[in-house]
Amino acid sequence: MSPPERADRGIDAPTARPLSFATRAVHAGHPRVVRGPVEAPIVTSVAFAFASAEEAEGAFRGENDAFIYGRWGNPTVLGLEATLADLEGGEAAVCTASGMAAVAGSLLALLEAGDHVVAPRALYGETARLLRERLPRLGIETTFIDDTHAASFEAAIRPATRVLYMETPQNPTLRLTDVAAVAALGRARGLLSIVDNTFATPWCQTPLALGADIVVHSMTKALSGHGDAIGGAVVARRDLRDRIADTVVKGLGAVLSPISAYLVARGIRTLDVRMERACRSARTIAEWLEQRPGVARVHYPTLLSHPDHDLAGRQMRAGGSLVSFELAGGRAAGRRLLDTVGLCVHAVSLGDARTLITHPASTTASTMPEADRARVGIGEGLVRLSVGLEDAGDIIADLDAAIG
Ligand SMILES: Cc1ncc(COP(=O)(O)O)c(C=O)c1O
Repeated sequence: MSPPERADRGIDAPTARPLSFATRAVHAGHPRVVRGPVEAPIVTSVAFAFASAEEAEGAFRGENDAFIYGRWGNPTVLGLEATLADLEGGEAAVCTASGMAAVAGSLLALLEAGDHVVAPRALYGETARLLRERLPRLGIETTFIDDTHAASFEAAIRPATRVLYMETPQNPTLRLTDVAAVAALGRARGLLSIVDNTFATPWCQTPLALGADIVVHSMTKALSGHGDAIGGAVVARRDLRDRIADTVVKGLGAVLSPISAYLVARGIRTLDVRMERACRSARTIAEWLEQRPGVARVHYPTLLSHPDHDLAGRQMRAGGSLVSFELAGGRAAGRRLLDTVGLCVHAVSLGDARTLITHPASTTASTMPEADRARVGIGEGLVRLSVGLEDAGDIIADLDAAIG
């Protein structure tokens, strides 16, 4: 069977009724099946033959869309890009080798020496390190704000600012950023706004619809959903997407493998049911934790006690699959919990079918200076739970026994 052609992408809505998220997650980006295999093949070929010398010349001039070489485009990856663009409501997407390739590649593509970024201090550890340690070596500075308020973003803007960077919900504190407010600020000041949508996924929120310019993802997490593929993606306007793709995949070579693209695409087909279950369970577990002696505080965006509860109602469909909580007994209680759980798996990452539990201060946020951790609320007793697809009652029983 020949590989799917670019023109085959997209879905025909049977009626004028807009297709729901669940339907688009299953169909968008997949070739319409009229005959032959229902599942698109995994195309592993590195090189693609040209039908004629004229087609080859045209392909290199960008005048036709013939595939040329695996680092520049691949049918399996292209299908996934179409799915992501559809689900995030963007013009175009590019897949990358990992979430960090999407984050770092976007910033490298858009910024140059002398430019400046504004970002909250509490970010995924490696993103924070990129902004704090790596980009300054290239002359790109970041001002870190202690909270996530649009007013704090505004106060940190300088003449050299080019990008307002957000991660909402934030890792691991689960504080939210008002994407519409920060994106509007960026627009008014001629700045690009970038949102890492890994925690929420397009099932919970679509930052582009709220006015953001660029969405970045670690597809390693809930999009793939089974903990067996590493990948990233950027979704944006076509011109921005092309600029970022040119740097990240063509120039830096951080290309997604077709096999990983297949695994992520397969995961996305069940994203709707997985997110619905995981968010419902996360909320149930968060409510239970709030009542549990030994737990000092629970962070979950849709709880009434969460400081961004109103914003969660405005910009998210549900609170997401992550819950963070602080144990009254601090680090010692955290260690005991992690060493005692039986069902929850003590491992980093998130968005897996299995519930994963981790201690951010000593793992994912350990590269953050201790003073910064204290400023943003990553305490020694903070535990992060990535709620999976098990029965919520079983997870609660496991936690109950392990908290002691
Ligand atoms: C919010 C967030 N963004 C980006 C990344 C980086 O993703 P990857 O591990 O796919 O490079 C992670 C990883 O945990 C993350 O949690």
